[in-house]
Order: sequence, then C-alpha cells, then structure tokens
Amino acid sequence: MVITSATNLVQELASFRERKTIGFVPTMGALHEGHLSLVRQAKAGSDVVVVSIFVNPTQFNNPEDLKNYPREPEADIKKLKLAGADIIFTPTEKEIYPEPDTRIFDFGAMDKVMEGFYRPGHFNGVAQVVKRLFRLVQPQLAFFGEKDFQQLAIIKALTAQEQLPLHIVACPTVREPDGLAMSSRNLLLSATQRAHAPLIYKTLQEAFGKVNSTTVPALKKWVQTTIDANPVLETEYAEIVDAHSLQPITEWNEADSIQLCIAVYAHPIRLIDNIKLK
Ligand code: PAF
Repeated sequence: MVITSATNLVQELASFRERKTIGFVPTMGALHEGHLSLVRQAKAGSDVVVVSIFVNPTQFNNPEDLKNYPREPEADIKKLKLAGADIIFTPTEKEIYPEPDTRIFDFGAMDKVMEGFYRPGHFNGVAQVVKRLFRLVQPQLAFFGEKDFQQLAIIKALTAQEQLPLHIVACPTVREPDGLAMSSRNLLLSATQRAHAPLIYKTLQEAFGKVNSTTVPALKKWVQTTIDANPVLETEYAEIVDAHSLQPITEWNEADSIQLCIAVYAHPIRLIDNIKLK
C-alpha cells in the first residue's frame, strides 16, 4: 500500500500498534539491492514493514546535488512491493515540513569530522527528517546500512538523546560483484568512472591487510596516495577513527574498535565507503 499523507499513515499504523512489531526502513529512493536487503532484514524481524521514500532537502548542503539526486519513484515502488514492504510512505515536502524545521541538534564532536566537516549541516538535516519520520511511524525497529557509518552513529546518538523507544539495527554494506559499495549515486557515474570506482574498496581491503605492519598516519597517507594516483578518482578524506566516538586516532592502541572511512570524488559524484580495521 502506498501512502502519501502523514495523517493517513498514522491512521493506518494505529491498528497495528498494539500487537505487531513495526519495522522501518527510511530511504531517499533510487533503490538498489542495498536498500532491498534492509527491507528483507526488516521483514525477517518485524510484522509490518514501513519504507519511506523522501529526498530530504534539509540534508543537502549543495543545491546542485539535491537537484541531481536520482529519482525513480515508479521503479522504487515496484521493487519495494516485490521485496515485501507492507506500507510505502512517499510524502511531499509539505507533509514532512509543514513549517520550516529550525531545530539544531547537538552531537558534540561526532558530527564535526568526516561527512559532518565536509558537508556542514548535513547531519542536522538527517536528524531533523529521521526524528520526524520516527515520530510518524513509531517503529520498534529501524534499519540503517553500515555504508553510511557516521550516519548510523549519529542516528544511534539521536535515539539515545531523544530517549526514543526503538532499536536501531545496523545492516552490512551490500556490494557489487567488483566490490563497489552499492549507492544510489553509482547511477550517476560515467562508464569510465564506474570502471575505476572499485579501486576504492580494493584499497580499503589492502589497507586492512597492512594494519600490523604500519603506523596509523602512514596507512592513511598510503590510502590517499593510492586513490589519488588513479586518473578519475580524488580523495576528499581518508580517516582512521575510533569506531564509537568517530574521532581520528594516531596510534593503533588508542581505540578498541577502529574504522577506516573514506570519501572519494569521481567528479562531480561523491562516493563514500568504510572498512573495519580492528
Ligand atoms: O541514508 C539515507 O538515505 C538518508 O540519509 C535517510 C536516512 C533516509 C534520511 O533522509
């Protein structure tokens, strides 16, 4: 069932609230296998699966990026029905933001690095829309991909800060056969860029193999140099961070759990990926 009005969504879900587990997958559409794997995981763990498709303007700090973001509503709805989504919520901007959202969230140092640093305001916009969607859907479970590693940490922080009674389920990154992390933005790559893009994950994997034989700064530098030697790719950042605080580290013993996160331009397309190093 496709629902566009927030009021109808709330009414429809009211009948399930008492007895059923509601699982929620928020998306911005242009759905690929990565999104569908979230839907399948939601299906396995919940009685009713709600998927939203909403390209949230408040999380785009670049108007061109918002304008060019791929939109394929009909194909998305078909894919979601096949994957077993029960309710597909496709609100208009007015439904989500009847008034402009001026709320400023505070995530401390967590959103001052990586995506938060290079896309100022991005996570505030993500928090605005996710908070609103959570309030409408009131799921017990919400599913997010590990590809957006920093987003996942921010959503967990949001849920804790707002004391929301729901569990955030982290789902593994789904990759193309050549290793490229699935992303709606892959649709925007030229054939040449697409052919070179698998170097990103190949480099992350090789970096994982070097952890015991090199220092943190040297590995970071190696990753950046390897990507930048490619004619169509350019690193925006390669950070080795504490997987919980997301703060960059300089020594392997500074954190129990360590992630290498990367943002790479295949101009003007921006791709992100990450790998667990420890
Ligand atoms: O990851 C996304 O697609 C978006 O950031 C989200 C979580 C749907 C919020 O707009």
